Amino acid sequence: MLLEIRDLHVEFETDGVVTRAVEGVSLSLDRGQVLGLVGESGCGKSATAMSVPRLLPMPPARITRGRILFDGKELSRMPVGELRRLRGARIGVIFQDPMTSLSPLHRIGRQLAEVIHLHKEVSRSAARQLAIEWLDRVGIPEPASRIDAYPHELSGGMQQRVMIAMALILEPDLIIADEPTTALDVTIQAQILSVMRKLLHARAGLLLITHDMGVVSQMATHVAVMYAGQIVEQAEAGAFFRRPLHPYSVALMDAMPSSATRGQRLKAIPGQVPAAGAFPTGCRFHDRCPVARAECSRQPPELAASGEMLVRCPYV
Ligand SMILES: Nc1ncnc2c1ncn2[C@@H]1O[C@H](COP(=O)(O)OP(=O)(O)OP(=O)(O)O)[C@@H](O)[C@H]1O
Ligand code: SF4
Ligand SMILES: [Mg+2]
Repeated sequence: MLLEIRDLHVEFETDGVVTRAVEGVSLSLDRGQVLGLVGESGCGKSATAMSVPRLLPMPPARITRGRILFDGKELSRMPVGELRRLRGARIGVIFQDPMTSLSPLHRIGRQLAEVIHLHKEVSRSAARQLAIEWLDRVGIPEPASRIDAYPHELSGGMQQRVMIAMALILEPDLIIADEPTTALDVTIQAQILSVMRKLLHARAGLLLITHDMGVVSQMATHVAVMYAGQIVEQAEAGAFFRRPLHPYSVALMDAMPSSATRGQRLKAIPGQVPAAGAFPTGCRFHDRCPVARAECSRQPPELAASGEMLVRCPYV
């Protein structure tokens, strides 16, 4: 198995207040697979994914429990130097905000070349050529001249593409992509997704975080739905999209634009994700669940097998 996350717990502590952002998440991902991690804002998707390469700000974050195995190696206890060598070369990370990984002070060509030189013995001209190739692949027009631009000379969408090129340029085995295409227009989004698909054919695994069920349905082989810090449903993508079981998954799917509703406003799920630290007792979804029963506010449901799927609701 390429990546195994077992019983991960992550909390944030700010001014003595502890919020439990991730509670007991277990996920696995093999080569050639795309695991779509979905859920509304604040459900703990980034906290889960960024725990893998240990790229959460610590403090305020801390991993309090769980194991993270990459190709059988325990990452949560790996020395920082060794982990740094894995990042970039074998684990590529695409962030929600491009400026997380771009420096405003250096030309993008230099930043891409630095990533290459850090992990590979190649000449300066070969590194520059590779950087131009990748800028082209992610849809940067006139890459041979844009390579000498500073990040602030590029639009937000272009910065996003440069950052994606930087994460993929060494063709990592594991790609962690946190909302990689949300800021991009539809054509560029399709191009980026196609670049990622090619890498997957070369036996990478992709952990894809997104609010966009449309992107998940195009890309994912497996789906995990998060709500309020926990997995509420986990399944193979075909089965999930044929018939999602958890009422929250059903609501997310209903909110997805279809060809019939395109152009209309997205249907929002009534209510809000509870803040981490203020979860309701019983089922965390009960105050928004259209099929909730009285007992749902008392007993917290377990994640349990239902056929081939895992579901955190005993009433489906
Ligand atoms: N640096 C931080 N300090 C304190 N709390 C944080 C921090 N980062 C995240 N959290 C909290 O952890 C919880 C999970 O956040 P996370 O960023 O993982 O959500 P998410 O599912 O990625 O949401 P989004 O879709 O908006 O990116 C939230 O309640 C959030 O407020
Ligand atoms: S346990 Fe109850 S409230 Fe929770 S999802 Fe199932 S039916 Fe809805
Ligand atoms: Mg996030």
